[in-house]
Amino acid sequence: MALLKQHALFCFFCCLPLVRPSHWQDDFRSLAWFHRIQAVMSPASSGHSKIPKGNGSYPVGCTDLMLGYADESVFLRLYYPAQDQDCLDTVWIPNKEYFFGLSKFLGTPQFVGNILNFLYGSLTTPASWNSPLRTGEKYPLIVFSHGLGAFRTIYSAIGIGLASHGFIVATVEHRDGSASATYYFQDQAAAKAENRTWLYLRTLKQEEAERVRKEQVRQRAKECSQALSAILDIEHGSPKENVLGSDFDLKQLKDAIDGDKIAMIGHSFGGATVIHTLSEDQRFKGSVHQNFADFTFVTGKIIGNKLTLKGEIDSAVAIDLTNKASLAFLQKHLGLHKDFNQWDSLVEGDDKNLIPGSPFDGVTQSPALQSSPGSHTQN
Ligand SMILES: *[C@@H]1O[C@H](CO)[C@@H](O)[C@H](O)[C@H]1NC(C)=O
Ligand SMILES: *[C@@H]1O[C@H](CO)[C@@H](O)[C@H](O)[C@H]1NC(C)=O
Repeated sequence: MALLKQHALFCFFCCLPLVRPSHWQDDFRSLAWFHRIQAVMSPASSGHSKIPKGNGSYPVGCTDLMLGYADESVFLRLYYPAQDQDCLDTVWIPNKEYFFGLSKFLGTPQFVGNILNFLYGSLTTPASWNSPLRTGEKYPLIVFSHGLGAFRTIYSAIGIGLASHGFIVATVEHRDGSASATYYFQDQAAAKAENRTWLYLRTLKQEEAERVRKEQVRQRAKECSQALSAILDIEHGSPKENVLGSDFDLKQLKDAIDGDKIAMIGHSFGGATVIHTLSEDQRFKGSVHQNFADFTFVTGKIIGNKLTLKGEIDSAVAIDLTNKASLAFLQKHLGLHKDFNQWDSLVEGDDKNLIPGSPFDGVTQSPALQSSPGSHTQN
């Protein structure tokens, strides 16, 4: 059933561009939002019928973590090397409210949220939900900051790809009004009753955009640092309660992280978050300020300095290239002893699918996560 739905959706989105007369205006709402949907979905799904499995040798587990209450709580999805690959049953987008938020972000009528929920609501991503952590090794840690209109779960292809190569990846969900949707629990009673308080995307007026975006970047950077602190506390053995009440025992994370190998990745608006966080939080390595140009390689969309998409390529290929470039970059900057340097050339933009050039050459053409309706301000 799930496969059928995905197939239907795939055909739906693939056919639309074909029937679109080229002289139609891009801001012709009813079609523009199909492109936006494609842009949002492509970082995570392979574009075909499923999200690719991690390529590396480690089985991948996944869990959600919320520490604390109200909107200051730390909220993240964790991908990690797992003991074994029992079932690949992580629900990709676990609440219908995220689809409503996406629909709002995309500027579509509300019923589109229901359609997206119907099509994608039961889709799983290839990681074992709450599977025990693989022990006996300290893993490098990556904190991931999502783009505008996104949220913690839609970068699973990247999270899973990296975890399968031996990284722990924490994808933070931001509460600055930049996520399509997010939630928190007001207090313990609300958590017990699963009474979620939902926070939807804040749409900005042109004149407030610049000021608000700056505040948002500051808040996002703070949230990344808080997430890192919380994970390192757990790593050092201090007890924390996951208010989501999950089966994943946080004590497993004790001594599981290599504290010298912590990096940050951001996608679009998350990229600005990375710069800001790095300038304030010395714990993130691989990655002093001026290396940011390199860092843009390590994104969900290929928008690095030298990694600009050459026309339309298969998104599975795009994800694979992104993952390889990320791995090569991380090996170099974290000093890992792996074989990821075999993809060093990708970081230089050397591949038939890539053209060396400005990151904006190819990107401004297509609606990406950073182009939210009602605002032309990026980052
Ligand atoms: C859920 O929480 C909100 C406040 O966060 C409260 O106003 C509401 O009464 C709660 N609902 C239930 C059913 O407890
Ligand atoms: C993943 O596997 C495919 C098929 O074996 C291969 O072509 C590709 O290079 C691999 N990618 C990575 C990141 O290892």
